[in-house]
Amino acid sequence: MRILMVGNGGREHTLLWKLKNDAPTATFFATQPNGGMAALAEGVEISPGDTEALAGWAASNSIDLTVVGPEAPLADGIADRFRAEGLPVFGPSAAAARIESSKAYSKKLMRNAGVPTADFRVFRDLPAAEDYVREQGAPIVVKASGLAAGKGAVVCETEDQALHALREMMENLRFGEAGREVVIEECMRGEELSVFALTDGKGALILLPSQDHKRVGEGDTGPNTGGMGAYAPVSLVNPKLMEDVEKKVLLPTLRALEADGSLFQGLLYAGIMLTHEGPKVVEFNCRFGDPETQAILPLLSSSLLEPIATIAEGGSVAGMKLRWHSGGAVTTVLASAGYPGSYEKGKAIELPPSLTEDPNLFVFHAGTRRSAEGLLTSGGRVLAVTGLGDSLGEASRKSLVGADAVNFDGKYFRTDIGWREFARDEGMRP
Ligand code: AMP
Ligand code: GLY
Repeated sequence: MRILMVGNGGREHTLLWKLKNDAPTATFFATQPNGGMAALAEGVEISPGDTEALAGWAASNSIDLTVVGPEAPLADGIADRFRAEGLPVFGPSAAAARIESSKAYSKKLMRNAGVPTADFRVFRDLPAAEDYVREQGAPIVVKASGLAAGKGAVVCETEDQALHALREMMENLRFGEAGREVVIEECMRGEELSVFALTDGKGALILLPSQDHKRVGEGDTGPNTGGMGAYAPVSLVNPKLMEDVEKKVLLPTLRALEADGSLFQGLLYAGIMLTHEGPKVVEFNCRFGDPETQAILPLLSSSLLEPIATIAEGGSVAGMKLRWHSGGAVTTVLASAGYPGSYEKGKAIELPPSLTEDPNLFVFHAGTRRSAEGLLTSGGRVLAVTGLGDSLGEASRKSLVGADAVNFDGKYFRTDIGWREFARDEGMRP
C-alpha cells in the first residue's frame, strides 16, 4: 500500500506514526516533511496547499490512500480534486469543510438542525454589528467567519473590547477576507472538551475525548496559541454525556450536512463547552485537532488505518469499534521563545537518545527540519512530548521529564498541562 500524508505539523507526524504502526510494510510519502516525519516517510517537494500538483503527483505515483491533515487544503477542495481523479482520500469535500471554513455557515446549520450552541447573529456591515454589541452588552464573543488559523475568536469582557475587535476584523481586515463577515455570539461558561469522530457521513466512531490548552501561560493565561498541550481521557466525561454529544450534536450535524448535499467523510471535530445547560458546540473543525491528536493516538490500541481507509474509499464505519489502552496521556508542547508573537528559527535541537528508548514517551515534531548541521527549529511550536501512564499524574510526570530533557535555545513550555484535572482530584497531582 502507498500512503500520502498531506501536511507537516505535529498532528501529521502523529498520524503518520500511528498509520505506520498499523501498516509497517506500507510505503509512506509526506509533503515537505518536518524533521520527525522525514524519518518515517519519503518527502514530496510539493506544498500541502498545492492541490493541483498533489493530485497529479498522487495519480502518477499510484497512491492508494491520501490523508489530509490541515484545514486549508480541505477548504480549498483537495478532497474533491482527488475524488475526481478516482483517488481515495481521507478528508471532507470543500462544501462539507465549510463546517470549519465558514462560521456563519456552521452556526446557521446548527440552528436549523437544533444542535445546542451559543445564540448568535451574523454581520457583514460594521455599524450594524456595533449596534448589536451595544444592545447585547458584554461579555460577548466576536469571531471572524472565515479561516484565521485558530486566532479569529475574541472573547470580550467589555463592550469596548468587542467594538475594537469588530473594527480590527471588518475595517482593518486583521484576518484578511476571513473577517469581512463576523459572527457575534453569546459568551458561554464552562470547561471545554474536544470530541473527534471518524465518520463516513452517516455514522460516527468517537475517539477518546480530550482537553486542549490554548493559552500560552500557566493557569490558562496570556494570548491564545495553536495549543500548548492536551491530555486524555477527561474525567468529566461519562457515558451519558457522550450519548448526548453523539445524539444531540454529532448525528444531527451529519444529517444536516448530508441533507445540504455536503456529506461529511473524514474527521469531524466538535469543540464542546460543558455548560450548566448541558453540552453546547463552541465550534466545529473539519480535521484532527492539534495538539489533541498527539495525546489521543498513542492511547489508541486498535487500527486507525482501517476506519480511515474505509472512509476514504466511501465505505461505512457501521460495526467498527475502536479500542483504547488504559491509563492516560499528557502532551506538553515545546515552543520557541516569543510564540505566539514573533520568534527566531534555526536553533539547534538536542534530543537525548533516552527519549526515544522509553516506550511510554513520544516526541512528535512540529516546527523542526533536518539540515547538514542536524535538527533545527523551524516554527513556533517545535515539538510535542507525550507521556503515557497508568494515571494522568504519572503521564504528566513522564511528559515533563521528556520536555526537560530536550534542549534548544529559547525553549518554552507550560508545566501545568492537565491542571484542571489535577485540581478536580488533588490526589492525582504529580
Ligand atoms: P473558536 O475559534 O471558535 O474555537 O474559539 C476559540 C476559543 O474561544 C474557544 O476554544 C473558546 O475558549 C473561546 N470561545 C469561542 N466561542 C466562545 C463562546 N461563545 N463563549 C465562550 N468562549 C468561547
Ligand atoms: N486544538 C485546536 C485545534 O486543533 O483547532
